[in-house]
Amino acid sequence: MMRLLVVDDDPDVCEALSEVLSDSGYEVETAPDGAIALERLLAAREPPQVVVTDLRMPNLNGVELAAALRGCPRLSSVPVVLCSASPEARALAAGAGLKDVLDKPLDLGRLLALLGELTSGRQTSAGVLATELLRREHAAILRAIAERASEAGTLGEAAAEARAAIARGILGWFQSEVLEHDAWEERFLFPVIDACAPAPRPYTAMLRHQHAVLARWVADLATLAAASPLDPVAFTRRVDRLLGLLTAHLEAEEAVVLGILDDCIADERFQQEVLARARRR
Ligand SMILES: [Fe+2]
Ligand SMILES: [Fe+2]
Repeated sequence: MMRLLVVDDDPDVCEALSEVLSDSGYEVETAPDGAIALERLLAAREPPQVVVTDLRMPNLNGVELAAALRGCPRLSSVPVVLCSASPEARALAAGAGLKDVLDKPLDLGRLLALLGELTSGRQTSAGVLATELLRREHAAILRAIAERASEAGTLGEAAAEARAAIARGILGWFQSEVLEHDAWEERFLFPVIDACAPAPRPYTAMLRHQHAVLARWVADLATLAAASPLDPVAFTRRVDRLLGLLTAHLEAEEAVVLGILDDCIADERFQQEVLARARRR
C-alpha cells in the first residue's frame, strides 16, 4: 500500500485528508508541523512515497521542510506536494524548486490525480509495489527455512534410506530455490540498486559476497549429501549454518536494499521482471 505523510498544523485538515486519502487506498500518517514531520522522516526505516504539506506552520514551514528533505540523500527523492491558501505560495515554491503546488481549500480530485501521478512510477502495472512482491518471496523463504530446520532435526533418528531422502530434499531446496533466488537478484535487483541509490555499491558488494558464501556452502552440502553412509551430524551442522546465514542475509536485504529500492524505483522494465517472476512462482 502507498504511504503518505500529511503535514498540517490544522488538526481538522489532517483529519479530513487522512479520512479521504485512506478511503482512496493510501496509508496515511499525519504530523502537526514541519519540524515533527522531519524528525519522523529522518527516523523512519522506510520513508513515505509522498509528503503532502501545508506552507505556513510553526517551527518549520512547508518550503523549509522540502528543502531539508532535498538535503538528505535518503529522502531527497521523496516528492513534496505543497498546499497553501497564500498568494505567494507559488513564488516561494518555485524558489525552492518545488513544482507540485495546490491551492487551499484543496480540490480533492486534483490532489488524488497528482498523487496518482507521483506514485505511478513506483508501482508495477498490476498496481503492486515491486518491493512488496520481493518481500513476499522473502517471507516464503523464511517459512521454508523453518521447515528445512525441522527436517534436518529429524535426520539423526531417521533410518538410513529415509535419511538420504531427507538430505536430498534439503539440498534440492537450497539449489533450486535459494541459489536461483540469489542468481535472479544478481541479474535484475542489484544492478537497479547500483544504478539508483546514493553510494550503493558497498551494500550490494556485501550481499553479493554473502551469495558467494551461500553457494560455496551449498556445494559443501552436496558433497556431504553424496557421501555413503551420510554423516547426519556433519550434514545437520552445515544445514544449520546455511540457514543462519540465509536468515541474516534476508534481513539485510529487507532492511537495506529494499528500503533503497522503495525510495528510487521507477524502472518499468525492472518492475515487469519482478511481476513476471511473481507470476511464475
Ligand atoms: Fe540475496
Ligand atoms: Fe533475497
